[in-house]
Amino acid sequence: MPGPLDLQSIVDDIHRELTPRLGEGKVADYIPQLARVDPKRFGMAIVTVDGDVHMAGDAQVPFSIQSISKVFTLTLALGKHGENIWKRVGREPSGSAFNSIVQLEHEHGIPRNPFINAGAIAITDLVLAGHTPKEAIGEVVRFVRYLADEDDIVIDPEVARSEAATGYRNFALANFMRSFGKLDHPVEHVLGVYFHQCALAMSCVQLAKAGLFLAASGTNPLTRHSVVSKQRARRINALMLTCGHYDGSGDFAYRVGLPGKSGVGGGILCVAPGKASVAVWSPGLNHNGNSLLGSLALEMLASRTGWSVFGA
Ligand code: DON
Repeated sequence: MPGPLDLQSIVDDIHRELTPRLGEGKVADYIPQLARVDPKRFGMAIVTVDGDVHMAGDAQVPFSIQSISKVFTLTLALGKHGENIWKRVGREPSGSAFNSIVQLEHEHGIPRNPFINAGAIAITDLVLAGHTPKEAIGEVVRFVRYLADEDDIVIDPEVARSEAATGYRNFALANFMRSFGKLDHPVEHVLGVYFHQCALAMSCVQLAKAGLFLAASGTNPLTRHSVVSKQRARRINALMLTCGHYDGSGDFAYRVGLPGKSGVGGGILCVAPGKASVAVWSPGLNHNGNSLLGSLALEMLASRTGWSVFGA
């Protein structure tokens, strides 16, 4: 029988082996706040379902989580509206870029899934129900703090402002959905909340803690907070696996074999069900807008631990 995994050595080895390659990939530059991040940053954190934390590099440095926030707003929307959310958004991989508008016209304003921009905007519209935008932003922040059990998680106001100033494509997507009657709230309100959720700043450790409920059948084993049912945790993981990396979701499933959600800030949240929640951060992106070395680090982790949802 193999002995217990030495996760700290595995994380340290991955960090050491990737160090000569730090800086590879292209850092997102559509807003200055992302463009000026040091491309050589690298952080990785593993939080096991037993509560052990293993980390390497810049694992405690906050970064812009961007689209990873879509996992948390999806969880919130499911809590508020249950399975009714599937009237507004599909559950199929998109096979196109995260901000594509073409598919949306073909499919009459129903986005393919909750993780492409259009789908996440539709989900944020559902989170807004019964709230002012300010209240909804507060709800998202409180929810993420509750998940991670960390009170100092905040939104970077500069990032939120710049997203709004440059978010022409997101305005187009939202206006399009509104024209099909698929958004209940004014476009400015929905995007106001969406831009703020994308601007959440979190470290790898905080992110891994926030995702731990997905690795542990819906209940955070550290806080004993029951966040979602076991079935719902499985289903959120299924969506992350099939849709969490946009047009690169198939490749991520093939190489890593675990549910994951990426963001243009260079972060990836990855779930090893029954084992651990993992977060990695490396700002250089590949051509699909997913962290280049972050994906590689997770591939190395999966291969060295044997963690996979596709078999032992
Ligand atoms: O909506 C946007 O354009 C960004 N705020 C977030 C997009 C994102 O993270 C896509 N991920 N790779």
